[in-house]
Amino acid sequence: MPHIVFNKYNKQLVTPSKKDDVTFNFQAKSYNFTQKERNTEYKISVTKDNKEFLLTLKTKDENYLLKADKVTRITPVQLIKDSLNSYVSSVEGNIIFSNTQDSSLKVKPDQEHLKDIDYFINDFKTDKEIQIEIGFGSGRHLLHQAKENPNIQFIGLEIHTPSIEQLLKQVKIQELDNILVVNYDARLFMEFINSNKVGRIFVHFPVPWDKKPHRRIYSNDFINEALRVLKLDGNLELRTDSRKYFEYCTDLLTNLNTGRITIDINKDLAISSKYEDRWKKQGKNIYDVVLSCNQIDEDINLDYDFSFNEDIEFDEIIKTLSTKAIVKDDYFIHVEDIFVIENEKNSGLIQITFGSFDRPLSKYILIKDKKAKYFQDLPLPTSANMKAHNKLKEMLA
Ligand SMILES: C[S@@+](CC[C@H](N)C(=O)[O-])C[C@H]1O[C@@H](n2cnc3c(N)ncnc32)[C@H](O)[C@@H]1O
Repeated sequence: MPHIVFNKYNKQLVTPSKKDDVTFNFQAKSYNFTQKERNTEYKISVTKDNKEFLLTLKTKDENYLLKADKVTRITPVQLIKDSLNSYVSSVEGNIIFSNTQDSSLKVKPDQEHLKDIDYFINDFKTDKEIQIEIGFGSGRHLLHQAKENPNIQFIGLEIHTPSIEQLLKQVKIQELDNILVVNYDARLFMEFINSNKVGRIFVHFPVPWDKKPHRRIYSNDFINEALRVLKLDGNLELRTDSRKYFEYCTDLLTNLNTGRITIDINKDLAISSKYEDRWKKQGKNIYDVVLSCNQIDEDINLDYDFSFNEDIEFDEIIKTLSTKAIVKDDYFIHVEDIFVIENEKNSGLIQITFGSFDRPLSKYILIKDKKAKYFQDLPLPTSANMKAHNKLKEMLA
């Protein structure tokens, strides 16, 4: 990830302020919440191209390390690089190391095709059939499908930013207008798609996570959500070289009380991915497991009110918070950290992880002017998140 190490800065950051199209909204300093010895850490709120996110500033030996905050994800990565450079230039820092120089990409990624999750909650509409590829990697399969099927709206999901940028370049070069790309965990994404809309969901060569099975894409929740978004006779299509992953998924699918399952070994597809080429050269078997949907589901309601009560005293609230997680049967809340906004009274960020146990969500709650809101986008309207939000509302009252 892009970062800059610098020392000796000559100026304090003034907030709010603007430099080179980057707005610095506020700077918040770590509060001694976890009681662990640690160096001072800052969260800096920046806005660039109408997108607000956080940077992290840490002391490292005699130096300062500046990078993007892990919880507030943002693409394209150039936004982060520009913000890091503007910060260091604002404080007149002396750069010791930087990997934020302009990339030599000849074709700039086409942002028209890269969408935030909010777009899918508020604006996404299509009369076309939808097909989704999860973890498209190099994008060979997704690009091939989009070229062959101009009447289908494709959605590509990836969490690896360089793969996203590489795909967006190709979308532009090949002038494709039927691919939308989202930088989002596929296990969470489908909750935003209306029921019975999707013709095919491709999961090709997912990471098998032999040692961390909870990180796998396939789970009971994922399969049920896939069945909800799939049209009648739509398919959830797994292709894998991992015998263990194949057996794990077949086991989950054969325990369903709905759907039809088809299994193939070493089936040829019109396009072969980078991973597939590698496994085939090694003489490995390739397994296909297709689940066909034979049910019609009710539509979902995405309009949940994730607001907080008014008149919140940040300085008082943080004294009542504990590092101990609140664990209920079907959700949890863990307050991870607290940051106090400098030069503004009674305001700051509370960093929390919450929601369901197998799909926890990390977010900041920003409290300013006695009002609280989730920083960046709202939580997904899942039942665990709604319950956790109600509890948070009580805690911040
Ligand atoms: C082994 S690669 C396979 C890439 C591609 N499908 C192929 O066949 O070449 C797995 C891809 O899934 C992506 N991935 C892993 N977990 C994911 C998740 N939860 N949501 C979206 N993408 C994910 C990874 O970033 C990686 O690019």
